[in-house]
Amino acid sequence: MNIATWLDKAKTKVPSIDAELILLNILREKDRTYLISHDTRDLTEVEEEKANYYLNERAKNKPLAYILGSKEFYGRDFYVDENVLIPRPETEDIIDVVKAIVTKNRFENPVIYDVGTGSGCIAVTLKLEIPNAKIVAIDNSDGALNVAKKNSDENHADIILQKSDLLSDATDNNIDIVVANLPYVNKAWDWLDFESLQYEPLSALYASNDGLALIYELINEVSARPDVKHLVLESDPSQHEKIIEYCKKKGLELVETRNFILYFVSL
Ligand SMILES: C[S@@+](CC[C@H](N)C(=O)[O-])C[C@H]1O[C@@H](n2cnc3c(N)ncnc32)[C@H](O)[C@@H]1O
Repeated sequence: MNIATWLDKAKTKVPSIDAELILLNILREKDRTYLISHDTRDLTEVEEEKANYYLNERAKNKPLAYILGSKEFYGRDFYVDENVLIPRPETEDIIDVVKAIVTKNRFENPVIYDVGTGSGCIAVTLKLEIPNAKIVAIDNSDGALNVAKKNSDENHADIILQKSDLLSDATDNNIDIVVANLPYVNKAWDWLDFESLQYEPLSALYASNDGLALIYELINEVSARPDVKHLVLESDPSQHEKIIEYCKKKGLELVETRNFILYFVSL
């Protein structure tokens, strides 16, 4: 079967873009125009079998990132599997907010903790964007830490990986910035697409207390530490008001809201 015929068949089962990305991955090509300029090229038996397998998985709603084992974050490719949350575009704002904090405060060698690192996308990106920073990536899941290690090795990002429940085992007593994209999904949200979320680790998605339990716990830890001055959190915008209120009570003042991201300083 040639490329054009396979794509025509695949597009009846999944969105066109997914069918094209599956084929590009298998053919190890990056540019979609390849599929047009080579539309009469025959797929080998192995290529076709693999393409059909990926197509059937995608038709069952498995996220493409898990099928292909890769997701782009801040312009770089990260390995992902079902041990970790698939990096989301809204999380990229954390990188820009932290870069701005480092510049504004003239930090030369900032110590930055990424709590709930998952694939390590935030920690690895911060290390590559701010090479002088010391980056510690924390997670309480061994599976996630293995994925973060693979991503730090593949990207040559020299970060420290640590198993810990939030900051409880943090060894530094001079942390400058804490960033966290912790689980914040409230199971009661009726607009969630549970069919596609079913593939992602429950422990990376959901939190009790309307999705706020872990965020509140981290705020408690940060507010009890005199060293941490800057806290950058991701959460759903519908939760922002409550988080801002909670932080205020704990001596943390809101500096900036950027889409899903909240940036606080301790008073
Ligand atoms: C929403 S995912 C975020 C992953 C990654 N930072 C990202 O932005 O794509 C949350 C991560 O927090 C971790 N986690 C959940 N509870 C934790 C806890 N108490 N302490 C440390 N990590 C935790 C999960 O294992 C998961 O990898």
